[in-house]
Amino acid sequence: MVRTGTSERPDLPIAVVIGGGGMGMSTAKRLGQHCRIVLASLSADKNPAREAALKEDGIDAVAVQCDMTDPASVDRLAAFVAERGPLRTLAHVAAFSPSMGDWRTLLAVNLVGPALIERAMLKLAQPHTAAIFVSSLAGHRPQPPSDEVLAVLDRPLAPDFFEALEALLPAAEHTSGNAYSLTKTALNRMCRQRAWAWGQKGARIVSMSPGMIATPMGALEFAGANREHKLALLAKTPLGREGTMIETADAIEFLASERASFITGTDLLVDGGVHAAMAFPED
Ligand SMILES: NC(=O)c1ccc[n+]([C@@H]2O[C@H](COP(=O)([O-])OP(=O)(O)OC[C@H]3O[C@@H](n4cnc5c(N)ncnc54)[C@H](OP(=O)(O)O)[C@@H]3O)[C@@H](O)[C@H]2O)c1
Repeated sequence: MVRTGTSERPDLPIAVVIGGGGMGMSTAKRLGQHCRIVLASLSADKNPAREAALKEDGIDAVAVQCDMTDPASVDRLAAFVAERGPLRTLAHVAAFSPSMGDWRTLLAVNLVGPALIERAMLKLAQPHTAAIFVSSLAGHRPQPPSDEVLAVLDRPLAPDFFEALEALLPAAEHTSGNAYSLTKTALNRMCRQRAWAWGQKGARIVSMSPGMIATPMGALEFAGANREHKLALLAKTPLGREGTMIETADAIEFLASERASFITGTDLLVDGGVHAAMAFPED
């Protein structure tokens, strides 16, 4: 039977996008040009408008509630995706910035959640599946954490993860800002550590580290306690501006594509050059 007035494309593979904020939606709009979108995000009340916005752009999309820090919720998402079709792309975008939660909340949202998603989606991976985890310039700090701290960060699903990390760091360092950079460092490491497991399925896993990007989350940080630090970083950015969500979508689309077919277990910095510039301050 011929149907009209629908954007449904049952012939396309699935792209799962985790996070329905600014960068999540720009990513879904881009990946939706080649895939059916499953957008998974925390706030059930915001998801119908997100699904409608994607459909208005002609994208075959469904938005579902998922709390990625809850193993049962992640399992439900994986079952939903498995029913719909082959997984071509995972774009894990969601995170909390330092202004959005406390130390433990950020550890859970920015590291335990992505680790649960990674484990669940690996089961659905097949040849040519690509997983992209949005990390941050904050994960590339000049002084990396100690080997002991890294060893704990490398096993975020251990039952004693929070206690083991807190035992290694003085209480004064249990801040949301520190949690943000530690979790982003750990996320980059997770994509390197898990490349072997994904490779066994002919699939890839990479991180993408944005610098300062003009998103609602970025604006929140510019308005808050980090304002001076962010302005100083902007002053040191060779390209002299924030990036756009179009530019992060470009990077994610490339990493997801067959043009990136030999790129796995690594990180792509999309930061206007600020990380490089900080290594050569005299220039
Ligand atoms: N903006 C920047 O300058 C910048 C710089 C470096 C890195 N980044 C990174 O870029 C990514 C996206 O940033 P953004 O600025 O566009 O932020 P964003 O999309 O606003 O990130 C927040 C999103 O995370 C979702 N979320 C929070 N907790 C969740 C949970 N437990 N389960 C599922 N979803 C959850 C929220 O869902 P609901 O809305 O449904 O509640 C929200 O959509 C983040 O990884 C961030 O760290 C951003």
